[in-house]
Amino acid sequence: MSVVRENRESCLILWIDNPPVNALSQEVRAAILAGVTAAASDAKVQGIVIACKGRTFIAGADVKEFGAPPTEPFLPDVTAAIENSPKTVVAAIHGQALGGGLEIALACHYRVAAKGAKLGLPEVTLGLVPGAGGTQRLPRLIDPIVAAEMITSGKPVDAARAQASGLVDAIAEDHVAEAVKFATTKSVAGRRLSERAFQLDAEKFEALAAATRKQAKGATAPGAAIDLIRRTAGKSFVEGMREERALFLHLRSTDEARALRHIFFAERASSKAPDDIGDVKPADIKAVGVIGAGTMGTGIAMTFLDAGLKVRMLEMSDEALSKGLARIQSSYQDSMTKGRITEAQRDQRVGAVSGSTDYASLSDCDLIIEAVFESMDVKKTVFKQLDAVAKPGAILATNTSYLDIDEIAASISRPDAVVGLHYFSPANIMKLLEVVRAKRTSPMALVTALAVAKTTNKIPVVAGVCPGFIGNRMLRAYVREAGLLLLEGATPEQVDKALTNFGMAMGPFGVADLSGIDIGYKARKEMAPGSFEPMAVTVHDKLVEAGHLGQKSGSGFYTYTGGAKAPNPAALTFVEEARSKAGRAARAISDAEIVERTMLALVNEGYWIVEEGVARSLDDIDVVYVNGYGFPRHRGGPMCYARQLGLGNVVKSVTGFGEGSYGKWWPISPALAKAAAAS
Ligand code: COA
Repeated sequence: MSVVRENRESCLILWIDNPPVNALSQEVRAAILAGVTAAASDAKVQGIVIACKGRTFIAGADVKEFGAPPTEPFLPDVTAAIENSPKTVVAAIHGQALGGGLEIALACHYRVAAKGAKLGLPEVTLGLVPGAGGTQRLPRLIDPIVAAEMITSGKPVDAARAQASGLVDAIAEDHVAEAVKFATTKSVAGRRLSERAFQLDAEKFEALAAATRKQAKGATAPGAAIDLIRRTAGKSFVEGMREERALFLHLRSTDEARALRHIFFAERASSKAPDDIGDVKPADIKAVGVIGAGTMGTGIAMTFLDAGLKVRMLEMSDEALSKGLARIQSSYQDSMTKGRITEAQRDQRVGAVSGSTDYASLSDCDLIIEAVFESMDVKKTVFKQLDAVAKPGAILATNTSYLDIDEIAASISRPDAVVGLHYFSPANIMKLLEVVRAKRTSPMALVTALAVAKTTNKIPVVAGVCPGFIGNRMLRAYVREAGLLLLEGATPEQVDKALTNFGMAMGPFGVADLSGIDIGYKARKEMAPGSFEPMAVTVHDKLVEAGHLGQKSGSGFYTYTGGAKAPNPAALTFVEEARSKAGRAARAISDAEIVERTMLALVNEGYWIVEEGVARSLDDIDVVYVNGYGFPRHRGGPMCYARQLGLGNVVKSVTGFGEGSYGKWWPISPALAKAAAAS
């Protein structure tokens, strides 16, 4: 790290160079403070510019420092020194000004941004509130409601919106030169935000407060930010700063903040190539082929179109192809109507996809992904044809969610080109991508898959081959316990509610209805007996056999009439029947028991998965569950949650479940037992 001082005309430029993202480490804070202090008494310096080298302005406090007590100089003291400087201080922003980075910029007297810059206060996404004046200066600069939205959502705004709201004073091609001009020609008079006051429009603010609490889904930081802003409106800046700092210091040591920091770093680690790969460069991917233009195939195609790549789709018939292409068009049309993309973006994306029914059309693709019917025979036929036409070096990927990729790879002449790319539906929205490394997948295919994930805005996790890979294998254990809880006295609604109250995006029975109960039913017909617990799915089976397939048939575990969801009486009857078949009387089951049984099923299976080498780490499992299965982010993932419960407690409970009627499904993972003993 270095902070270099450059004297340009009568301006001092403080160049921060702390790769990769110019985080505000202790050294950076100290160097900014020293530079600003020195300039104050230097008669040759008329103004100061704070600018950054590398790809971005300051992207925030150094998250790595959050686990330890704060060290001097504290950020609020640095921002105070900037604001109180007698010399005009200007922030020259490119890339991102986030968190502490924006707080530094807010302490400056002016802000000049480069085109494409983004500004935001993402602290709530780390379980915090800004701690160096963000909640106090922003509402004193722009409309307090807009400020409160930025603080409670954590979402950054682009330079154009920032300028419209008054957050930046100018956007310039050469933002540093422009900032120098500001610093040498403008005065500090009236520019110190601490000298201003702010008041809230009560009606608008309470509407925002209600929406914030709803969206937080159990996370506490957004609500804490709302309360702080409400409490400090109308108070002095000094008082506001005191309250902000106290809340920041309290929040940084909560379980929620720890969990959110954990998942932040876990998501970055999961996209790195495994250690044994060595220094292999990813292949350049320009043209992508997608086989199968159903829901999954078109979703996958759109992830590439969104990233500016060309996509060629392949289908069996002209009719299926036209349907798929029409789905892509209408999806982009819809996004444009909702204002998410411009007309030019829609045209560019729709224009970048073409289709064919001839395999030869894929011969110049660098990466080809199949998303066809989930059957080994069908997949092998597709790969055989691909093997015949794909160019040498092309990567051949399968989107299978449970088939044996080693077997698929072994059926063609270039098994090293085969990799699994397991997308989650809707593929253009869901962040998770399981990158399945088969036995013979080449290092090049693997690193290219990881690089593709990054360019298409996905969070990849490397998995080994086993039925269901990481996520779906764990899901099976979770769904089994949910099913068994019905036999013991719970209702589908109670199970779903307990889990959504815990923070899951949906409960297991709601999910079954959404995806279609018949899908699991058909899959089970192909599974070896003994590989699943039949008693856990008796209600599912009965529902399917009676035509209750889920949302698509209008009823499943719930009925869906006129948009209203209600428990399906037929499902409740099947639950009663299943209980008597199992010879069980209903007992009272608490929500806590529902959460414990289903979560610990995930945890024990997760430890097995790491032990078997299917996942690289417990952290990778958390990344899978948070980004692919609606696990509450503020709990950090199931494995992080287990640590917060205490591994000793987890082992005690798992051992207890192992002694129950369905105890054979609870063989304790030796890795879990070992970790508990060491904890
Ligand atoms: N503190 C410490 N390290 C940070 C960091 C921060 N605030 N922000 C990013 N990093 C590190 C990442 O861990 C990663 O390290 P690695 O390469 O060793 O894994 C590296 O910087 C690059 O980050 P990455 O997210 O992969 O790069 P990107 O270009 O995709 O995104 C940002 C850049 C700045 C948009 C993104 O990193 C980000 O949002 N950072 C967090 C910002 C934030 O929340 N700041 C407020 C803190 S209170």
